[in-house]
Amino acid sequence: MNYKQTYQASLDDPENWWMNAAEAIDWDRKPRKALTDLGENLYEWFADGMVNGCWNAVDRHVNAGRGDQKAIIYDSPITGAKSATTYAELQTQVAGLAGALVAQGVTKGDRVIIYMPMVPEALVAMLACARIGAVHSVVFGGFAANELAVRIDDCTPKAVLAASCGIEPGRIVEYKPLLDGAIDMAAHKPDVCIILQREQAMAELIPGRDLDWHAAQEGVEPADCVPVEGNHPAYILYTSGTTGAPKGVVRPTGGHLVALHWTMKNIYNVDPGDVFWAASDVGWVVGHSYICYAPLIHGNTTVVFEGKPVGTPDAGTFWRVIAEHNVRSFFTAPTAIRAVKREDPKGLERQKYNLSGLRALYLAGERADPDTIEWAGDLLGVPVYDHWWQTETGYTIAGNPAGLEALPVKVGSPTVAMPGYDVQILDEAGHPMKPGELGAIAVKLPLPPGTLPTLWNATDRFRKSYLTTFPGYYETGDAGMIDEDGYLYIMARTDDVINVAGHRLSTGAMEEVLAGHPDVAECAVVGVSDALKGQAPLGLLCLTTGVNRPHDEITAECVKLVREKIGPVAAFRNALVVNRLPKTRSGKILRATVVKIADNQPFRMPATIDDPVILDEIRDALQTIGYASDG
Ligand code: COA
Ligand code: AMP
Repeated sequence: MNYKQTYQASLDDPENWWMNAAEAIDWDRKPRKALTDLGENLYEWFADGMVNGCWNAVDRHVNAGRGDQKAIIYDSPITGAKSATTYAELQTQVAGLAGALVAQGVTKGDRVIIYMPMVPEALVAMLACARIGAVHSVVFGGFAANELAVRIDDCTPKAVLAASCGIEPGRIVEYKPLLDGAIDMAAHKPDVCIILQREQAMAELIPGRDLDWHAAQEGVEPADCVPVEGNHPAYILYTSGTTGAPKGVVRPTGGHLVALHWTMKNIYNVDPGDVFWAASDVGWVVGHSYICYAPLIHGNTTVVFEGKPVGTPDAGTFWRVIAEHNVRSFFTAPTAIRAVKREDPKGLERQKYNLSGLRALYLAGERADPDTIEWAGDLLGVPVYDHWWQTETGYTIAGNPAGLEALPVKVGSPTVAMPGYDVQILDEAGHPMKPGELGAIAVKLPLPPGTLPTLWNATDRFRKSYLTTFPGYYETGDAGMIDEDGYLYIMARTDDVINVAGHRLSTGAMEEVLAGHPDVAECAVVGVSDALKGQAPLGLLCLTTGVNRPHDEITAECVKLVREKIGPVAAFRNALVVNRLPKTRSGKILRATVVKIADNQPFRMPATIDDPVILDEIRDALQTIGYASDG
C-alpha cells in the first residue's frame, strides 16, 4: 500500500487499522478492541489489553536471541566517555534498578521523578519504571529548582532517580543541591532519592532519604515485568502552556508502544539492528520517544549523546558520531544545524568523515527554515525531512513517510498528515477552510493511539486547553495551511508559547516571574526572531510609580530572576524598561504587534488599539537595544 491508501484506510477504519498495527507489540493479553469512546470527547486506546513497555523495549529482543546486539551507544564528547550496552546487559541493569525501586516500596501506578543528564542510566531509569508499572516523569536538567518543585507537587512522586550532576560546556551543573532545594520548596516529600554519583561532582547523600544508585541494588531481587492495562500511564511529561503552571501530558502505555513501533520503519525508515540517533535530551518528548522508547521497541540501537552541536569539541561532532557509529537516520532540531552552519558554513568538518551509511536527516521541534534545510541537504547529500509534532502527541502529526513511500519534499512544509490524524484548517468559527487559506490547525477527534488522553489530574484543563475552542476537534495551538496536494505548512503558534532553540517555553510563565520583581508594575514577554535559536524571549517592563533606580540594574535583576525561577534553559537575556505597554481598548497587550516591530516587519495597525502613539515609543525603545532596525 502506498501512503494515500494507508492514510485513507486509517481514517476509514481506525479500529481495524490500529488492531493490525498492534500485532507488532507483545501483549500479555491481546486487546479485543482498539478504541473506547468514553463520551464527551474523551477516548482511550487498547484499554482492555495487558502489556509491559519494558518487555517490549528490552526483554523480548533478548528472548529472540538478540541479546548481544547493542541497545545503547553512549558517546559523550563533553567528558570523553564512550561505551556500549547490549540488550542483555540493559535487561540486567533495568531489572536491577527496578528491583531497588520495588525494595523501596515503589509499585504499579506510583510516580517516580527522573532528573538526569544524557547518560545511559537515564534510559535505564525510565525503563525500570516501565518494568514495574511505575509512572515516570523526567525533568529537564536546564530547569531551576522551583520548576522541579512544581512538578514534585503536581505528580507527588514516591521516589526520585537523579544523577549528582550534568555537564554543560564550561561548567558543571550540580543536580543534587537543585534537587534538595526543590524538595525543601515542595509540599510533597518523596520517600527516597536514588542518586547516580558521577565523578565530575559527587553529591552528599542525606541519610535516611538518599541512597546510592549501585548500593540500592545490592542484595535486592531483580524485578520482573509487571503487565499493565493498555491505558495505564507510561509517563507524565510536563510542557509549557499559556500560564506558568506546566501541563502534565499523560502518555498511555499501549497506544504509545503501537504508534512508536509503526513510526520507526514507516517514517524513519530503519530496520531492526540499524543505528538510529536523535540528538535531543531525555527531558524533552523527542528524548522520550526517540532516544529511549521507539528505537528500543523496534530493536534498533539508540545513541545517547552527551554534548552540543558545536564546541564539544567542534562543529564536526555530529558528523563524527554518525560516521563512527554508522548512524542510518539522524534526527535533530533545526537550531542545532544552524549552530553548526554558523560555525562551519563551508562544511569543512563534514569532509573529514565518511557518512555513506546515513540515509536521511529528520528535523523537528521548531520551524525548519528553507536555508537550513537546503544547506544541510547539500552538505550531507541525503534527503532532509521536516516533520511536525508536539509533546502532546508524542510522535509525528505530519511528516514524510519515507519508509512507506518517500513523497516529494516541498521545502517549508513538513509534508502530509500521518495515519490516524485527520488534520484540518479551521476559521475562527470552526469552519473548515479551503486549500491555501491560513487558519488554526486542528485534528478531528479521536486522536490516534499514543497521544494524550488527558492532563495529569487536570481533565478540566485538558478540555479547556485543547477541546473547547473547536468542538469535536483537538486544537493544536499552531496556525497554518494545507495546499492543494495535502501538504501542511506550520506558520505560528496561536498562543503565548514560544520556541527557543527547539525548547518550548511559556512567555506567561516568564511574565509571572517578572511581575514578582518589586519594581515591576506590569510586563510583557514576547518571542522575537533570533537567527540561531529561532526565537528569543524579550521582556518589556513598566516600573512601579516612584521607582527611579537605574534601569540597567533592574533589567539585570530581572534576567537573574528568570534564570533562578525557571532556569537557564529559558535563555532570558533581554529586558527593556518602557513607559507603557501597547494595549487594545479592552486592555489586551498587543504582543504580536510588538514582535513585528522588534523584527522590523510590516504590520497592520490593530483597529482596537488604545493609543497608536505607544507603538512609536516602543519602536524607539527597542532600537536602543538593537531591535526594530534595518541593520
Ligand atoms: N542542564 C543545565 N543547563 C542547560 C541544559 C541542561 N541540560 N541545557 C541547556 N542549558 C543551559 C545552557 O548551558 C545555557 O546556559 P547559559 O545561559 O549559562 O549559557 C542555557 O541553558 C541556554 O541554553 P541553549 O538555549 O541550549 O543555548 P546555548 O547557547 O547553550 O546552545 C545550541 C545553543 C543551538 C547549541 C543548543 O540550544 C542546542 O543544541 N539546541 C538543540 C536543541 C534540541 O536538541 N532540542 C530538542 C528538541 S528536538
Ligand atoms: P514541543 O511540544 O516542545 O515538541 O513543541 C511543539 C511545538 O513546536 C509545535 O506546536 C510547534 O509550534 C513547534 N514545532 C514542532 N515541530 C515543528 C515543525 N516541524 N515545524 C514548525 N513548528 C514545529
